[in-house]
Amino acid sequence: MKALIASGGRGTRLRPITHTQNKHLIPIANKPILYYAIEAAVDAGIKEIGIVHNADSLEVPHYVGDGSRWGVKITYIPQETPGGLAQVVMLAEKFVKGDDFVFYLGDNMVVGGIKRYIDEFQKAKCNCWLTLSKVKDPERFGVPEIKNNRIVGVQEKPKKPKSQFAVAGIYLYDKHIFDACKAIRPSRRGELEISDAHQYLIEKGFSVGFSEITGWWKDTGKPLDLLEANRLILDNITSSNHGSVDAKSSVVGKVIIEEGAKIVDSVVRGPAIIGKDCVIEESYIGPFTAVGNNTVIKKSEVEYSIILRDCKISDVGIRIEGSILGNEVEIVEAAGKPRVHRFMIGDQSRVEIA
Ligand code: DAU
Repeated sequence: MKALIASGGRGTRLRPITHTQNKHLIPIANKPILYYAIEAAVDAGIKEIGIVHNADSLEVPHYVGDGSRWGVKITYIPQETPGGLAQVVMLAEKFVKGDDFVFYLGDNMVVGGIKRYIDEFQKAKCNCWLTLSKVKDPERFGVPEIKNNRIVGVQEKPKKPKSQFAVAGIYLYDKHIFDACKAIRPSRRGELEISDAHQYLIEKGFSVGFSEITGWWKDTGKPLDLLEANRLILDNITSSNHGSVDAKSSVVGKVIIEEGAKIVDSVVRGPAIIGKDCVIEESYIGPFTAVGNNTVIKKSEVEYSIILRDCKISDVGIRIEGSILGNEVEIVEAAGKPRVHRFMIGDQSRVEIA
């Protein structure tokens, strides 16, 4: 069993953060989203992982490395343009070499790992195994039609979904998936859709089984999804303190304070994570907040937010909430009179003011 992880695409729904950073490297609870996918494969006992990445950028290979830190071998497979998930699978045919494999979308997160699904796929001896999760908005996803506990069809982002399920981005395949991906044609949005490959397998009589994901699963395609994933991961952390907390501060609930971080005259209410070498001074950090390394927060309040590394937040008179700040962002008090808001904001940013 091998693993294939998709980390390409353009991440347009997460701009402006993705103008300068691959979306799979955005941290959730201070760890890149992609690491959760790699660790899910590693925890399932997989030793060979292929990662498909955008051919015009070596950001992912440089950042992730050869896999030795997890004791696995990572092979990188470049994709010239994001032509769809079925194209991603086809590009990996040489890497897979006829083995069974799990195809994991690098922007998906699931609690509880993937071993259970691999076991169920192997036990059922199916050609293809899908994982399904009940969602409120199935029209955003691949959607199965289920009759008598069997998948009888799959449609990509249907206007009228035939079930309440989304096909999650964790798929198990044997070699027949390659014939399916080669047989289909681009969809109206110009992509080779993985759902069309699944539909092809069903129509040709191959066995397509499924597991229902009963815990939480998230596709982190949109900003709110990132915040929710961050909330869910932080909810499961165990407290630790490798930094310092002065006598005037109070740290309550589950909080990770990383090396060199200083909490001074502040309240940190978990679950939260404060990255390496951060300084939190005369401030309030509320639940479900992740603060990246080397960020300074002074005389400000932050809650339910993701703050990346090297940010500076100081003297902000109103609580920052439900926010995502990229690397090296500054939100500081505007000096002088009259009282003003002064912005220096990159393309496709969004600011909401009370
Ligand atoms: O998250 C589950 C959904 O993922 C499924 O329900 C859908 O059937 C499936 O098509 C997919 O839909 P999305 O619209 O969410 O796919 P997205 O374009 O966001 O790409 C998913 C991942 O694959 C993401 O990590 C980027 C990567 N990717 C995407 C494309 C199109 C590539 O590496 N190369 C590509 O060509």
